[in-house]
Amino acid sequence: PLASTQFRTAYHFQPTHYWMNDPNAPMYYDGVYHLFYQYNPNGATWTAYMSWGHSVSTDLVHWTGLELALTPSDPFDISGCWSGSATILPGNKPVVLYTGLDTVGRQVQNIAYPKNLSDPFLREWIKPNYNPVIEPHQKINAALFRDPSTAWLGKDGSWRLTVGTLIDEGGLAIVYKSKDFMKWVPAENPLYYTNGSGMWECVDFFPLKEIQGATKYLLKVSMYDTLHDYYVMGTYDEERDIFIKDDASSDDCRMWPMIDYGRLYASKTFVDEAKQRRILWAWSNETSSVADNVAKGWAGIQTVPRVLSVDTDGKRLIQWPIEEIESLRREQIHLQDIELKTGSQVEVRGLKVSQADVEVEFEFQNLTGAEPFDANWVVDPPKLCREKDAYANHGGIGPFGLLVLAADNLEENTAVYFRVFRAEGSYKVLMCADQRRSSKKSELYKPASGGFVDIDVKKDGKISLRTLIDHSVVESFGGGGRACITSRVYPTILLNDNTHLYAFNYGTETVKISELKAWNMAPAQIS
Ligand code: FRU
Repeated sequence: PLASTQFRTAYHFQPTHYWMNDPNAPMYYDGVYHLFYQYNPNGATWTAYMSWGHSVSTDLVHWTGLELALTPSDPFDISGCWSGSATILPGNKPVVLYTGLDTVGRQVQNIAYPKNLSDPFLREWIKPNYNPVIEPHQKINAALFRDPSTAWLGKDGSWRLTVGTLIDEGGLAIVYKSKDFMKWVPAENPLYYTNGSGMWECVDFFPLKEIQGATKYLLKVSMYDTLHDYYVMGTYDEERDIFIKDDASSDDCRMWPMIDYGRLYASKTFVDEAKQRRILWAWSNETSSVADNVAKGWAGIQTVPRVLSVDTDGKRLIQWPIEEIESLRREQIHLQDIELKTGSQVEVRGLKVSQADVEVEFEFQNLTGAEPFDANWVVDPPKLCREKDAYANHGGIGPFGLLVLAADNLEENTAVYFRVFRAEGSYKVLMCADQRRSSKKSELYKPASGGFVDIDVKKDGKISLRTLIDHSVVESFGGGGRACITSRVYPTILLNDNTHLYAFNYGTETVKISELKAWNMAPAQIS
């Protein structure tokens, strides 16, 4: 039954068929957005023998598919074209750097540039014969050395980029420098090194904001051992080419906040010169089995592109869906001032809720009923989501939130919800997406995901939730985008497109929906 088109996404990017994973080299060039991606043109499963799919768009919503941009062809990439990034060189000249698997399976970094800069779609790519431009040196395990980042230009006139690897069980980001973008030499120090985290994939590193004269940088790593993307903020010491994380962050990078607490991996950002913003793309992997993926003939989607910003104090990353996605909003529902007393469950009627955009604001009367917080809980939010779930375990303030892609008897539903706890001198807000009841079908990965939302509920008196529902994906933004959770779910009720949406509150304290807006979403044109 997973072969049903009901599970395909309508406005989240996915190729018409077969396997896709990481976004590669997203860029904006001469009025056109480019998205490349890890693609298997021969089937719906991952293979080392990867190609680069290529799609273009003028609005980041509707996409036209082009021919493959890179396919294994030369000794330096004959066994696979893996992930990489774009850099726009002076004179408006885009280049990409990517990882090639060479004749002996080593991971090397290669360059490719467009054959014809006057083709606005940059269809054809040339791999110069001086590739590879970076080879693994002695200390590096050649099987764990990949995903070159976008390069940045130092004040000394040298380009820098970073490549992820593993040395002595610790993940790290090595810096390479070049004057001419052809010859690259390793810098003395790694950009950042951490003990015991496992291999770092798809490292991204960029300036985010000026705060009191100093530039805040963000380091993002995709940790192969946990299959999550983590980030940390700090400063960049250009003299020594090292990143120094802010003091308050944990030394254990697995404790850093996640880009998304759900199904998101290998994210990559680019600067959109047209609108002066930084946009994040990311792969959302399936939760269906390999056999199911083969049966449905496709696997992997991209999350909706997210605009990145930082809170004024420079401590929290904020992610928000690009405004362009709102152009797909159609019929609207608008509700106000709905009291959600303990145990209540209110159906949001009148929309086709398998393809919708929902924005809701929950308001608290007071916080005195919040349950006490146990400091040990910070280490494992998913466990807390499982134990303090939206079903049996009624708490003080919350669980409250939405039940999406729900059957009318709730036999199937994905619960996206919050719980507020009282900690030492502050409140802790847990956000969860519980997928354990998302489908009656077995052989699916149905976790409960969650993390803490860094907001001041006492000051704000409310918390917002935006949820983008698109058939097999539920992408949620809590606290204005301060915590995100993406779920991939396969409810059998989608087969008859008979899904419902409810707002609920199973906490003992009343919560009010001050406002709820929801829209049907038109499908994006993606060819
Ligand atoms: C991340 C990743 C990258 C690699 C690519 C291969 O998902 O493993 O490290 O370049 O996928 O498809």
